[in-house]
Amino acid sequence: MKYDLLNIISSSLDNSDLKEIKKNFSVLLDSVKKNNNSKIILENGHTPVLKEFLLGEINQILETQTIERTKYYIKRLIKSLTETKQSKINDLNLNRWKEYDDIITDSLWILNKRDNSGVHHAGYWGNFIPQIPNQLLRRYTKKAEWILDPFLGSGTTLIEAQRLGRNAVGIELSKKVLDQTKRNVSKEANPNKVKLEFVNGDSASINLRSILSTLQIKAFQFQIFHPPYWDIIKFSESKSDLSNAKSIEEFLKGFGSVLDNCLPMLDKKRYAAVVISDKYSGGEWIPLGFYVMQEVLKRGMILKSTIVKNFDETTAKRNQKELWRYRALAGGFYVFKHEYIFIFQKK
Ligand SMILES: C[S@@+](CC[C@H](N)C(=O)[O-])C[C@H]1O[C@@H](n2cnc3c(N)ncnc32)[C@H](O)[C@@H]1O
Repeated sequence: MKYDLLNIISSSLDNSDLKEIKKNFSVLLDSVKKNNNSKIILENGHTPVLKEFLLGEINQILETQTIERTKYYIKRLIKSLTETKQSKINDLNLNRWKEYDDIITDSLWILNKRDNSGVHHAGYWGNFIPQIPNQLLRRYTKKAEWILDPFLGSGTTLIEAQRLGRNAVGIELSKKVLDQTKRNVSKEANPNKVKLEFVNGDSASINLRSILSTLQIKAFQFQIFHPPYWDIIKFSESKSDLSNAKSIEEFLKGFGSVLDNCLPMLDKKRYAAVVISDKYSGGEWIPLGFYVMQEVLKRGMILKSTIVKNFDETTAKRNQKELWRYRALAGGFYVFKHEYIFIFQKK
């Protein structure tokens, strides 16, 4: 069912009788309510509008007491249905911002259920949940832009990029992991004809300029760093693997080299994210996250947000839950339940 909604709404602007306007909008409200689709198609090629959004806007108009205010809301509604307002870093239409209620804007992320759809899986120990790149890519990239993930692992970022129509390069030190990831990701459909590049190498030294020139692009528009949380999980035997760093200093130096190699390839004013947690060892809370944040700040990036995300318990941790609770009570510390997502912008 196609609505000539805009005409009905616009004609109210010429009406100075508030009662009559409200009557028209009540009829409109009923007919929108009766529509079974969640998205309502407008005439004249405008993008479909979410039913919930429209109901909210009409209700707001119906609750208004003065003619001036009513017309203000009607004008705003017409604008949101007909005009697009976009920032330079994503495809969100700010005139319809109320429609994006699944996009998180608070700094506390409680994400309980892992998205296990398609080729996503929790089998790679130490991978992040797909909602992290999904949220970030929608906030910080536009369709067809290029993303860099220098710690590819099981390819969670690239799977999300493919689904969202963004191109991406993923770098992974372990050839075995890279090959498995490439095989797995290729099982998923690529309706947007996205380009995904799987590169085997050390992100601290790989020649990104030559990768960019092969791809015939100048830079990346977003970078997402999910390094090993130092030695919490050992990923390989390689000396270049950040999880094999002998000390915190060595880990930070290694991570700094990855930043030095990658950040120059990020477009100015664009964003980068680091996903990291702290660590507890030898009776001491090691603020790994804050050390890592310092490394990024030292390289001239601006901190835009510190997000705290709840940490999903791994099976191993779940079995030891009681033990950890006892240890915490006895040892005067708190059990880890969170990790960080730091958001930075290039000057
Ligand atoms: C925390 S995991 C990333 C997981 C990934 N976000 C996912 O969802 O699967 C870190 C990955 O970085 C890789 N790695 C470690 N040091 C590296 C380096 N110097 N260069 C490239 N990759 C490295 C590890 O092999 C591991 O797969």
